[in-house]
Amino acid sequence: MSSFFVLQSQYEDLARDEIISISKSYDSKIDVKSEPRLVMISSKVPWHKIANRATFARYSGKIAGTFDDITKIELSIPKPASFVCRTINLSSKNIGSSALERQAGGILSRKWGSKVSLSDPCLTVYLIITDSKKYLGYLDRQVRPKLPVKIIKHPHELDMKLSRCLVNLSQLKEGKILCDPFCGTGTILLEAESMGIQSVGIDFDKIMCKITKKNLAANGFDSKVINSGYEEMLNVKSNAIVTDLPYGISSRASVSPKKLIKDFVSIIPKRKKLVMVYKKGLEVDEISKAKKYEIYRHKSLTRVIAVS
Ligand SMILES: C[S@@+](CC[C@H](N)C(=O)[O-])C[C@H]1O[C@@H](n2cnc3c(N)ncnc32)[C@H](O)[C@@H]1O
Repeated sequence: MSSFFVLQSQYEDLARDEIISISKSYDSKIDVKSEPRLVMISSKVPWHKIANRATFARYSGKIAGTFDDITKIELSIPKPASFVCRTINLSSKNIGSSALERQAGGILSRKWGSKVSLSDPCLTVYLIITDSKKYLGYLDRQVRPKLPVKIIKHPHELDMKLSRCLVNLSQLKEGKILCDPFCGTGTILLEAESMGIQSVGIDFDKIMCKITKKNLAANGFDSKVINSGYEEMLNVKSNAIVTDLPYGISSRASVSPKKLIKDFVSIIPKRKKLVMVYKKGLEVDEISKAKKYEIYRHKSLTRVIAVS
């Protein structure tokens, strides 16, 4: 089965690797084809399983094949009650999208005898145009992921979309265990649990632990939350560490953020999967080989995601 994912233009590299990581968490033998702003996955993973988790994909669906001549398109799927054709132009040229959609719509409607519905179609046919190929894709069901809610917020929290992306980069699937040793208000734990991944949170601030527990309980999650220093992660059974490190000097620990990152990374077992986010400028040698992505927030905050 081949799935396509059209990536949002901002953070394209991150968006692509998120899709690949989710797919790999279910199937280690995936085949990946990439074009600018497009990634196609051939594997035994149904597309909706990936789409349900992905945060930075704008459109997705199944790939039916390629075409050269729009008048000869073939889509061998059961005829839908209604459908719509949409063009996604990823090429560098202006291609006259509306005319293409009308032409494809006319051909398919004659073949199927189905009506075109712009507002509530049972099937969306995608004409994906890149500089090298024209792909025919389709979407026959919508995915509506059940996203967690956050009842108590805090200024230092990480946004939920980015937290979900971090969990995805860890390549964990349902039933695996994630540990966040700087859990704050529990955003990463919430996103993990909402995708069926068990989670354990640690924070040395008692108030943060209380907030996390309330946020988890509001969603019916009962993850373990430990009020302790991050070193406690060494006593927690987990398949990956996914975390968002402090950006400022922590008054209780009186350790600079840079020293904290260095100390933290130095005790992580060598083969442990680690996904961490920190403020740009706090890099330490220990993570020089990690794959990194930069997320610009504002003039004084660019975050770096490191995956190793
Ligand atoms: C950037 S915040 C995490 C925010 C979190 N991702 C969220 O969305 O709420 C970092 C957290 O690390 C905690 N922290 C700082 N030093 C720590 C240490 N030595 N051990 C454990 N937690 C620590 C702080 O209390 C703070 O809640």
